[in-house]
Amino acid sequence: MNKKPTVYCCKNHSEIGSVTAALIADAIKKNPNLVLGLPTGQTPVPVYQELCKMYKAGELDCSGVTTFNLDEYFHRGKGDPDSYYTFMHEQLFDHVPFKASYFPDSSGELATEIDKNCKQYDALIESVGGIDLQILGIGSNGHIGFNEPSSTWSEGTAFVKLTPQTVSDNAKKFYNGNELLVPKTAISMGTNQIMRAKSIILIASGEDKAKAISDTIDGIVTPRVPASKLQNHDDVTFIIDEDAAKFLD
Ligand code: PGA
Repeated sequence: MNKKPTVYCCKNHSEIGSVTAALIADAIKKNPNLVLGLPTGQTPVPVYQELCKMYKAGELDCSGVTTFNLDEYFHRGKGDPDSYYTFMHEQLFDHVPFKASYFPDSSGELATEIDKNCKQYDALIESVGGIDLQILGIGSNGHIGFNEPSSTWSEGTAFVKLTPQTVSDNAKKFYNGNELLVPKTAISMGTNQIMRAKSIILIASGEDKAKAISDTIDGIVTPRVPASKLQNHDDVTFIIDEDAAKFLD
């Protein structure tokens, strides 16, 4: 039986940062060895800023926390300025020490090799007991991780192609609108795998997320809106601002 999700409606993007960081800090206090799933994108930036502030103020100890990032652009990674590895280090890991931080291995040429890397990531997550708390963003098309709208639910970590909508969104946010510069493929945890996290917080800010949020919370459960599967999870919290909440019932 699924519980109704908790929805926090914040005044703005920055409040999403403080509310979400407070919940993460609370989870770490309760379980210093927390396994934390993390997203990239614009939405989590104030969350990471807030965690950095808490650490600097001596209010946060992540030395027992293991993190797993949701996705990584294909053939990017350490040393690549466009990689999510670089993004996460700039935003969080260079400032706050964690026990260990992992990213999907985005290397490999042959399909068999890529598949093996993905399965190793899944096995690594399983070997630490699975993800305790997963933080998610959401795409304007309802994607979570890089699981784009589809006719089926994705299972574990896999190679994915970004839709034109996601490429255009990412171009606007990170590449001055130049779609040619946006990576078009990635390695992403799967939707069914994300659903195995013990608890989930989804954050969303801005009017461009309003339709995806109402489809996710009030719509039918369909792989055409990957985040709608969260309706089947019994511990989900949405932390969204007024613009993103605009179409909710
Ligand atoms: P954003 O991306 O935080 O940059 O809007 C979210 C996502 O695509 O999951």
